[in-house]
Formats: sequence, structure tokens, C-alpha cells
Amino acid sequence: MEGRTRAAQTTRHTQVAIIGAGPAGLMLAHLLHHHGIESVILEHRDRAYVEGRVRAGVLEQGTTNLLNELGLGERLRREGLIHHGFYLQFEGQRHRIDMHELTGGQAITVYGQQEVVKDLIAARLAQGAPLLFEVSDLILDGLDGERSRLRFHYGGELHELTCDYIAGCDGFHGASRAAIPAGVLSVYEKIYPFAWLGILAHAAPASDELIYAYHERGFALQSMRSPSVSRLYVQCPLEDRIEQWSDDRIWSELHARLDLADGAPINDGPIFERAILSFRSFVVEPMQYGRLFLAGDAAHTVPPTGAKGMNLAIADVRVLGAALAARYHEGRDDLLAAYSATCLKRVWRAEHFSWYMTSMLHRFPENDGGFQHHMQLSQLRYTVNSRAAATSLTENYAGLAKV
Ligand code: APR
Ligand code: PHB
Repeated sequence: MEGRTRAAQTTRHTQVAIIGAGPAGLMLAHLLHHHGIESVILEHRDRAYVEGRVRAGVLEQGTTNLLNELGLGERLRREGLIHHGFYLQFEGQRHRIDMHELTGGQAITVYGQQEVVKDLIAARLAQGAPLLFEVSDLILDGLDGERSRLRFHYGGELHELTCDYIAGCDGFHGASRAAIPAGVLSVYEKIYPFAWLGILAHAAPASDELIYAYHERGFALQSMRSPSVSRLYVQCPLEDRIEQWSDDRIWSELHARLDLADGAPINDGPIFERAILSFRSFVVEPMQYGRLFLAGDAAHTVPPTGAKGMNLAIADVRVLGAALAARYHEGRDDLLAAYSATCLKRVWRAEHFSWYMTSMLHRFPENDGGFQHHMQLSQLRYTVNSRAAATSLTENYAGLAKV
């Protein structure tokens, strides 16, 4: 193998090599920097692509706090929309769930994931710390040895990076999970029989808080990015293609599912982003192999209904950052050894919550004589009428401190 591989034109060493510049990889780099640990981030895409990728936009209190603690929350504090509650809508009624009151003062912040990514990239580059875009053909080597090695193409040259540890933060389709030998990981997966069509539109949100609607035509969600930009989703068949959805069809479906007989309708406006998103619940165990630690979507994905994806990615790297700090500054390996088990407790809680929200709010195509539909309606009625049920929903939604 070695004889056939062209020698790398440049070789360097870093303490932690981070694969992927999504929320997980970028946040880990900042946590390590804060602890005086050096890292190099390797990202496959270019900067504009990474910064332009539209994803969800709900930050738990813990995520907001971490950004602020690391001095990365300046624009978030200015532009983020703090929400103390949200609405559940079904059977033609909209019910407010007072998260703030039910959780003893918790709130979420609506701020696009791509804005978080932009802020983290700008701060990383301002530190003069290494973040390489457009890296290709990445190969991971020596995961179970003393020292690991990455080989990749960058700027037309073959590079080699040796490191003490690798953080696999390269998302669901990345190279790091795939580099773990067969048989090591247990894989848990659930695919859902529907998708979301998501849009961004220049339209004032009809409500200043999110509306989650369960309708006989399917799920719909009114979210937002700013006082003049709405983010909206409608459940659609898994096999639908975006060309099948004209602007008129999108708005008429959103009106049918979100407007109330006796209230203001949602606002239409020019659509400037649209995509169909399929989703799955997915977990691998353990989230570590030798010197490689998986974080974020590389290790687990959730359906977007609970808005947990980014928060979970950031919760992982908070654990990993602290474990690496203990390793480098105190010579302790116990936190690194416990990384996977520690993270998986939160991961499985979020998996359950995201599956539960998804199951409660979508129309399932299976023909079961309406049994599932009645289960969902009953659960929704219980949630809006029982303080205990609403508290359970909101404490999960806002983010649990202890899992
Ligand atoms: N080499 C280098 N970079 C890679 C490779 C590779 N082989 N494969 C993927 N990447 C990059 C992707 O281009 C992307 O920028 O890794 C990054 C992974 O980022 P995300 O997919 O955003 O994953 P993560 O940081 O774990 O954040 C999870 O993102 O997908 C959403 O809903 C999800 O909110 C959740 C969050
Ligand atoms: C979003 O604003 O994109 C969003 C909000 C709440 C969700 C999912 C997505 O549950």
C-alpha cells in the first residue's frame, strides 16, 4: 500500500484533527482553542456552500449559553429571537404552550443554523487558526495506533496531517464513520414514510411564536428567521420532487393547514429558498473507535420536528472538549473513555423526543382504520389540557440539564 501511495508534499502535526466545519466541528475547535489545545479543521466544501446551507434554527438555552460563554454570541444576542412558548394546533384550534412558565424560566432562541456557522467561521478565521476548505479525497489511518494520520488533497497538493486524536464531525455522509472497521458499530435506524417541503419567504411571520400544526392534510410548521422572513414547512410524500410544488400549491397547502377560521391567515411572500427534506432517526454505538471520536450527525441524526439536531451536535462536542482538556491538562483519560456513554444518554433522550414529536404531529400513510390518528389526537388533547404532559413536552423541547 505504502509503496503505491505518492508521498505527501506537506506533512504537519496537530493535537486534534477535526473533520467537518458544521456546528459540531466548528464549536469543538472553539472549545479546544479556549482550553489552549490546537486543532486543524478539514472541510470538504467551500466556505460559501457551508455558510449558505439552510438548516433548522432553534437553539436551546444551553447552546445559547455556550456561544455566549465562548464570546461567540454577539450577533446572536442582537438578532436572535427569544421565544418563551409555542403553539400546538389541531382540530381547528391553536393552543399556546407556555414553556417559560412550565420549565421555571427556560426559553429557546430562533437563529438559523447557518448564522451560527457563519459566526463560528468568522471567529475561527479571526483567530488565525487553521480551517481548510475544499479538502478532498480524505483518508483516515492509524485509528487504533499511537498516532493517527490523515491524507487529503488541498490546493492541488497531497497533504498529510498526523494528530493525537481525530474528531469525526463530518455529518451523516462523511468519511469518518465509514473508516471504522465493519462489525465495530451497532447501528439503530428508523426511516419515516414522509418528507418535509421547507421554504424561506420574504413574509412577516403570522405569529411571533412557532406553530406546530397537526391537520388531516398533514403536518405544517410556521417558523421564522426574522420579523420579515418566514420559515415554513409542509409534510409531503417521500417520493415528491420539488418541481411538483408550484408557489401556488405551496401557499394553498400552507393556508389549508395553518390558517384558522377565526384568525389572521399566514402571510404569503416571495419564496427565495425551497427544498424537500427526508429524514431518519439514526444512532451508532459506540461513538468512538480508538483515537477517532464521532460527534453530531456523523454519529446520530434525528427528524427535525423536535429541532434537536444542532443542539445535540453541540452537546456532544461540549463533552468531547472537556474530555480532551482533562487529557491534555490533567493527564486523565477517564473522561475520554466515558465520552460515548456520556453522550449516548442525551442522544437517546433526544431520539425519543424527536420520534415522539414526529409521531404525534404527522399523518401516517398506513391504512389502519384511523387508529393511529385517534392516538395522536388524544395525545395532543392531553398535552394541552394536562400541566404534567405539557411540562414534559416543554422540558424536553427547551433542553434537559440532566438526562
Ligand atoms: N471531508 C471533510 N468534510 C466533510 C466530509 C469529508 N469527507 N464529509 C462531509 N464533510 C463536511 C460537510 O461538508 C459539512 O460541512 O462535514 C460537515 C458536517 O456538518 P453538518 O452536516 O452540519 O453536521 P454537524 O456539524 O454534525 O451538525 C449537525 O447539522 O445536519 C444538520 O440537522 C443537523 O442540525 C444538525 C446539524
Ligand atoms: C426551523 O425554524 O427551521 C425549525 C423550527 C422548529 C423545528 C424545526 C425547524 O421544530
